[in-house]
Amino acid sequence: VALRVTYLHYFPKIADAIGGPPASPPVLGPFGSDPPVVTLEDWKARRAPLLRAALAEDVFGALPPHLDEQVLARLALPTDGLPAGAKLQQLTVGFGAAGDRGKANVLLVQGTGRPRALIVIQNFCGNAVALNNRYKQAFSLAGTAKECRGVMEDLSHIILGKYPHAPPLKWILERGYAVAMVYAGDLVPDDHRTAPAALARLYGPSPQGPPGGALAAWAWLYSELGEVLTREPGLQGAPVIAWGHSRNGKAALWAAANDPNIAGVIAHQSGRGGASLTRSAMGESLGGITRNYGFWFTPRYATFAGREAEIPVDQHQLIALIAPRPVLIGSGDRDGWADPPGAFRAVQGASPIYQLYGAPAFTQTQLSQPDFSRPLAFYMRAGTHGVTTQDWGNFLQFLDAHFPARG
Ligand code: GCU
Repeated sequence: VALRVTYLHYFPKIADAIGGPPASPPVLGPFGSDPPVVTLEDWKARRAPLLRAALAEDVFGALPPHLDEQVLARLALPTDGLPAGAKLQQLTVGFGAAGDRGKANVLLVQGTGRPRALIVIQNFCGNAVALNNRYKQAFSLAGTAKECRGVMEDLSHIILGKYPHAPPLKWILERGYAVAMVYAGDLVPDDHRTAPAALARLYGPSPQGPPGGALAAWAWLYSELGEVLTREPGLQGAPVIAWGHSRNGKAALWAAANDPNIAGVIAHQSGRGGASLTRSAMGESLGGITRNYGFWFTPRYATFAGREAEIPVDQHQLIALIAPRPVLIGSGDRDGWADPPGAFRAVQGASPIYQLYGAPAFTQTQLSQPDFSRPLAFYMRAGTHGVTTQDWGNFLQFLDAHFPARG
């Protein structure tokens, strides 16, 4: 359904200079009965916890409780096509005692030496597709979204660009990064009929905070994987980057807003419920997303449909919670569905918190003229929803600027 919805939307070219309404209420201003934020201490001690609680309450639900993770099985795979010395394996990670609360299969790809960072990628189509079906026989396709099979898979490649499902591993490794890939639907299915049972198992009998939807569980998966994977040989101390396209970008942002151990985020075309402001007129409506994908969110999010101006919290505050860590928001000028101007205004709105930390302000005025040297960065490239060669060029340029080689 998701891909079908996306495919059918072809948007007129979005203007490059930003002229829309200002961001939702300023991030430093009063928030409910909480007085304005003046110092970094005000932000850290008072405001950030309030915003995190508000985003849990009104948008995503709280993350599941932390569980013990362990590697239950390992499968070594041939590394043809990867640089010399590379290592490719699939780890089955279990959560709770022997994986009784949930499991996920993770493809771990490592080069030689210590990586600049470990990029954790949540994909749409499972690990077989993430390796261009080179080892299809090694993986079960049982958990793979139906949009990713057969004709739909071919179609999605044509429409979504070169790298929507299978990132350019050789290139990424040569630039000094390690990669972990996972299909979050392994843990909580991307399906409103089967997600509730998986969520109930993950949250357990006494969840702490408002019930989370699938995005909260997928966010939690970024965190738990960051923890378990940085115990692997060669990955100790590696900064963990949460990378997500579209729905996975929404989860990546919520992950980093909760988990200080996530060192940076790339949220590409994450749209409504992601980097784009809920109070925004362009693209997917709040009513639409919660009608089609209500189970991604906490049920309260849907109650603001048609009265978006009343939602107490907005997505610039989500981005602000990640400060001062590097965040890159990517978009396309024909991807109005994901609302690039709404994401641009959210980035502008988050900038004062980066400045509180002493980081440079976000001063960009054209959507298409990024400055990747700043920790808070935004770009809009030509084209639609998808992941292209140009996108990976941008991602790596941004990461290189913020995550130095570690020798
Ligand atoms: C649908 C959905 C979006 C989502 C996208 C995706 O189009 O409406 O909110 O971001 O799927 O994940 O590709």
